[in-house]
Amino acid sequence: MNQYVRLGVNIDHVATLRNARGGTDPNLLQMALAVEEAGADGITIHLREDRRHVRDDDVWLLRDHLRTPMNLEMAATDEMVRIALKATPKACCIVPEHRREVTTEGGLDLVNQVSQIGAQVAKLSDAGIEVSLFIDPNTEQIQAAHEIGAPVIELHTGEYANAATPEQRDSKLKRLKEGAMFAHRLGLIVNAGHGLTKFNVAPIVSIGGMYELNIGHSLVARALMVGLPEAVREFRWIMDRACR
Ligand code: PXP
Repeated sequence: MNQYVRLGVNIDHVATLRNARGGTDPNLLQMALAVEEAGADGITIHLREDRRHVRDDDVWLLRDHLRTPMNLEMAATDEMVRIALKATPKACCIVPEHRREVTTEGGLDLVNQVSQIGAQVAKLSDAGIEVSLFIDPNTEQIQAAHEIGAPVIELHTGEYANAATPEQRDSKLKRLKEGAMFAHRLGLIVNAGHGLTKFNVAPIVSIGGMYELNIGHSLVARALMVGLPEAVREFRWIMDRACR
């Protein structure tokens, strides 16, 4: 039997819709509170260098009004670390960021950035922020996360989600399971996310010791059909069934 797996909802694309017309509709805070009310365990936002969805003022507003933990995704830049140290969210997830990407592509290369990212992690951790590192399920990267001293990793599920055949999907799932097991042996907390949908989430929930999943695009897209609270409840229902 698996334990309860937390659902973190990434609301970036609510902000994308708002920004399409430059006004305040849909209201990001109102939507975040509705997501919480519907059963999400946390709210995730990614403050990108280009502010293409969530903006600085959103960070402060959400920080002041959310009832569940706020997880701030960010690149390991001095600007973002400065903002995080001022905002002190419950958690920060450091992700790679490239200007032209549509969404986060691949995990961090920690192996080649141990001292740079290690320094950022130390500053954030000293401020009481729980830092997680977004990485592919690769033992060298997981080992580097451990050496850097981050308490949490988030495993990138994009390759699993985008697998072209059932065989590929099984092999990507196996890598995620092995990665999670290796990380647990090192004492790391393991989260996962990217590309998860109602149809592919259950096997990820069933990975032993999984702590939290962060789900954004497919949940917000589903909300167009059934409403945001119902979309959250649907994901929660599927996750709870997979937990058993
Ligand atoms: N986790 C991380 C670290 C991400 O960067 C993203 C995308 O912003 C997600 C989870 C959510 O991915 P998706 O929007 O595909 O559900």
